[in-house]
Amino acid sequence: MSEIAYRNGVLHVEDMPVARIAEAVGTPFYCYSSAHMLARYEAYARAFADRDATIYYAVKANANLAVIRAFARAGAGADVVSAGELRRALAAGVPAGRIVFAGVGKTREELAEAVRAGICQVNIESEAELRALGEVAAALGATAPAGLRVNPDVDPRTHAKISTGRKDSKFGVDIAEAPAMFALAAALPGVSMASLSVHIGSQLTDLEAYRGAYARLRAATLELRAAGHAVDHLDLGGGLGIAYDGRTAADLAAYAAIVGETVGDLGCRLGFEPGRFLTGESGLLVARVVRAKPGAGKRFVVVDAAMNDLVRPTLYDAHHDIAPAVEPAPDAPRGLCDIVGPICESGDFIARDRLLPDFAEGDLLAARCAGAYGAVMSSTYNSRPLVPEVLVSGAAFAVVRRRWTVEEAMALERMPPWLAAEPGGGAA
Ligand code: LLP
Repeated sequence: MSEIAYRNGVLHVEDMPVARIAEAVGTPFYCYSSAHMLARYEAYARAFADRDATIYYAVKANANLAVIRAFARAGAGADVVSAGELRRALAAGVPAGRIVFAGVGKTREELAEAVRAGICQVNIESEAELRALGEVAAALGATAPAGLRVNPDVDPRTHAKISTGRKDSKFGVDIAEAPAMFALAAALPGVSMASLSVHIGSQLTDLEAYRGAYARLRAATLELRAAGHAVDHLDLGGGLGIAYDGRTAADLAAYAAIVGETVGDLGCRLGFEPGRFLTGESGLLVARVVRAKPGAGKRFVVVDAAMNDLVRPTLYDAHHDIAPAVEPAPDAPRGLCDIVGPICESGDFIARDRLLPDFAEGDLLAARCAGAYGAVMSSTYNSRPLVPEVLVSGAAFAVVRRRWTVEEAMALERMPPWLAAEPGGGAA
């Protein structure tokens, strides 16, 4: 990860010292490397350069408009899961014809918005949704291109909360139901279904699960074709894992080989929906030490970032490496510590039981691999304003989302009439 590294002992994102950004924007903040994101995109695109393939960036991983636009400029489409993400993708400049829409709970309003926008595919997750899409599109005088998201009943062997490929999950339609769903689609006005999609989970490092899922997709494609249905597009989902521990990343070339071996000879256009792979390792959450305090057998380093800013450690037991902004000397004494936030919950931690050098009040540190599912999952719990997002390109940086204020959050709230009078007699 040379774009995010120590140079002369100082943590840099590309050519910009993290401390310089901290001085300009305050802490905490998210910081992303443009060059790293684009390198990841290019690597993904290169792995499938010999195929008719489109990469639909999974906007949920990092929905900042600048990030979406950077991928769009590089040639990516977008995978969206809500009207909000659809609007973001369009606003960032992704052509509607390169947007796919996934998710188990798309409302009729969201389906209508997608049809009106003219997106290239709605991935259908149930019979009821297929009928709803048909009705919505027919009412608009349109024919909506649809894909069927199948559930292949494959265990992706990842964290339970981000596993989607098994029969007991809410996602997709049992793959055995595919012929009946295609037959229904053929009979409905308003939809045209010629695509299968699958997404079995996230942060996958065991690629054999993909092999199992794609083999089933292949069998379903052949079965559907034998029944007279066209299947010309396969959306293979996202999920490739990254190296949170700095070591064990999923192997892109091995993944591409599995794709080739399982579905490469079907003559289908291929779609991919990577999110974490493209942005995860490109980002840092930078925080400042508020104070350190001794605990039982370890130190607590209290920083100004918290679980509301980065919820992954407490929600998924996720590991994010901690990088002090100034590189510790190799022989610096290290001790066991937790990096924690100021929120009133024991689940409020960024890192636990790490061997790290001493930190003092005012020191800067960064949680690595925070470019995916970081800022997008943040909340304002404890009335902590959303933190800025900063994009670096070479020696330049730009605040691509400014810091919220508590006043802006309060401005959305209203007193009900029965509480409008202030205790002192004034009106609120
Ligand atoms: N396509 C579909 C249909 C998805 O549901 C997802 C992620 C993706 C693509 C992108 O997956 P990726 O390539 O990023 O693994 N918040 C969790 C991850 C949730 C993933 C949900 N779906 C986390 O922080 O680990």
